[in-house]
Amino acid sequence: MADAKLMEKLVSLCKRRGFIFPSSEIYGGLGGFWDYGPLGVALKKNIKDAWWQDMVIDPPDGPDGRQVEMVGLDCTIIMNPNVWKASGHVGGFSDPMVDCRTEGCKSRIRADQIDQTPCPLKPSKCAGQFEKCDLTEPREFNLMFQTYVGALQDASAVAYLRPETAQGIFANFKNVLDTSRVKLPFGIAQVGKSFRNEINPRNFTFRSREFEQMEIEFFCDDASAMDWYRFWRDTRYNWYVRHGLKSDKLQLRDQTEDERAHYAQACADIEYLFPFSEEMQELEGVAHRGCYDLGKHQEHSGKDLTYFDDDRWQADAAQYKGDKDAAKKAKENPPYRFLPTVIEPSAGADRATLAFLCEAYCEDQAPDDKGNMQTRVLMKFHPRLAPIKAAVFPLMSKGEMPEMAGRLYRQLKHRFNVAYDDKGAIGRRYRRQDEIGTPYCVTIDGDSLEQGTVTIRDRDTLEQVRVQADDVAAWLDERVR
Ligand code: GAP
Repeated sequence: MADAKLMEKLVSLCKRRGFIFPSSEIYGGLGGFWDYGPLGVALKKNIKDAWWQDMVIDPPDGPDGRQVEMVGLDCTIIMNPNVWKASGHVGGFSDPMVDCRTEGCKSRIRADQIDQTPCPLKPSKCAGQFEKCDLTEPREFNLMFQTYVGALQDASAVAYLRPETAQGIFANFKNVLDTSRVKLPFGIAQVGKSFRNEINPRNFTFRSREFEQMEIEFFCDDASAMDWYRFWRDTRYNWYVRHGLKSDKLQLRDQTEDERAHYAQACADIEYLFPFSEEMQELEGVAHRGCYDLGKHQEHSGKDLTYFDDDRWQADAAQYKGDKDAAKKAKENPPYRFLPTVIEPSAGADRATLAFLCEAYCEDQAPDDKGNMQTRVLMKFHPRLAPIKAAVFPLMSKGEMPEMAGRLYRQLKHRFNVAYDDKGAIGRRYRRQDEIGTPYCVTIDGDSLEQGTVTIRDRDTLEQVRVQADDVAAWLDERVR
């Protein structure tokens, strides 16, 4: 069930506590563009870092039981426009849209979303249902942002802001192959901004015009491609579950043949039930893309993008001993030389951030300073993703407690993003941290001065444990990394 109220509360909390603001808000904002505030930037960075650590630095073992080989890349946002001709984005990256010709409206609406889009002149009705609506026939609208490179602003200078990070990886496939000593199967990963001139940006950051992607292009031979497809599909789904997206709101859905691109042999969407929608929505896609992309870039660039399987050749070379022509011919063809097959897990960093925010929002009843039960708002982030890992409080703001708390805070700050707060009643300080999802609050009290211990309060269970002040860093390390 859609929960508009929950979404409203979340958007308001994001603004109030500094997670997400409308971009250039002092000038009225700009539809589909969002800024991340101090806590939002920390949350999104933790998500991207966790993805990089778990997918690139230390991925799980592959279906062949071996360490998965991954390298990273960071390509430019503006590339040679021929990249986008080869990939099909110039010709085909479009949404069908209709215009309303009515004076005072002149809106542009996605043709497939007319029945979900309120009429700007009469929002109680959907577009096309108000008697004054005068809609055109659907026309294709390219989603790429155009710009010009250099001093001239004519057709020869047109370039595009990338609508996905993937093509930079394909365009650099040969560079990586020639410089990194990688061997099939291996993956190239990239995290970066993408831009799409979405016709109806909506649902907070879910459909934005500027967003970040976390993409992997995994190259393998065709025989093992389905095993790698299943590996990445399950690895990616489990990653979300492990970081706290409840499995009843998360689903892995295999696309039907009709839904898939003609070159895709399999495709699965990882979907999440966002509070703004009745239906599960795409969080990430995992696609078996065959050798379509490398094939297109090879065709358009005229450069050889094939892979030569030297290990296999060395194993078989003896067969061709004494027949140089047969050896030469064999080396230029499969199974020795071929275009690799690609498995692509493609995630949105902003969509993942939004899903983790939605999942974390929670209200419960907890006692205030006087023991009265009050409604408490808390963000139950997974400790690894939480923007602030711990807050350090001196129970009293005067005397020796702040001194000891300050020492502990500085010690922890070397290793974790921690906060210090000595303002107001302790209950209120806890609430402030609960609302931004800080998993642990460390309090220095009278016993701390005498025994060198502190209390650590758990955000979710409210349980408190006493720990030696010197052990707090190790205690936190075990729980937040
Ligand atoms: N290279 C494949 C590709 O780009 P996609 O399904 O168009 O596939 C991948 O995008 C992911 O990027 C989506 O699952 C979503 O998480 C994110 N994404 C796409 N468009 C977005 C938008 N307008 N706003 C926010 N995230 C978006």
